[in-house]
Amino acid sequence: MKKNLILTGMMGVGKTTVGKSLSLKLNMKFIDIDDIIEKQEGRTIRSIFENKGEDYFRNIEKKTTISELKKDNSVISLGGGSFLNSEIRNLILSNCISFWLDIKIELLVSRLKNIKKRPLLKKNNLSDSIKKIYLERKNIYKLANHRIDCNNKKLDLIVMTIIKLYGDIRN
Ligand code: S3P
Repeated sequence: MKKNLILTGMMGVGKTTVGKSLSLKLNMKFIDIDDIIEKQEGRTIRSIFENKGEDYFRNIEKKTTISELKKDNSVISLGGGSFLNSEIRNLILSNCISFWLDIKIELLVSRLKNIKKRPLLKKNNLSDSIKKIYLERKNIYKLANHRIDCNNKKLDLIVMTIIKLYGDIRN
C-alpha cells in the first residue's frame, strides 16, 4: 500500500497541475480537495466564501480533507489553507509524505493577477495581501516533510524531484 502523497503551499503555486502529473506518473489516484468541496456544495469556493463565510468553508474543508485522507494510494492536492489546521496537519505528518511547493512572492503575484477564483485575495493591493498571507503561513508550510523550490522550474523537473524523494522514503 502506497502512503498518500500530499501537496501543500500557497494558492497559485501549481499544486493541482503538479498533482495531476504526479498521479499519472506514479499510477496513483488524484484528489483535489477544493474540487471535491465545490462538487459537494454545488457552488464555487468563491461563492461559498461569499455566501457562507470563511468559517463555514474551513469547517467543510476540515471534514472533507480528513475523510479523503482515509483513502490510500492517492496524490492529494490540499487547498492553500488546509495544512494550517493542526488536526489535518498532524494526520498528514503521521500517515503521509508531504511536500511544500514554494515559490517567491513576486512570482506568486504575477501568477495570481487573475484573482477571480481566490476569495482571500479580493484586496486592493494584491502584492501586499499575498505577502502577508505567505509570511503568516511559511513557518507552518515548513513543517511538511519536504520543501520543493519551484522557482523558475519546469513542471517535469518539479515532478521528477518529488518522485525521487517519495520513492526514497517509500522503498
Ligand atoms: C485558500 C486556497 C484555495 C481555496 C480557498 C482558500 C487559502 O485553494 O482552498 O480559496 O486559504 O490559501 P488553492 O490553494 O488551491 O488556490
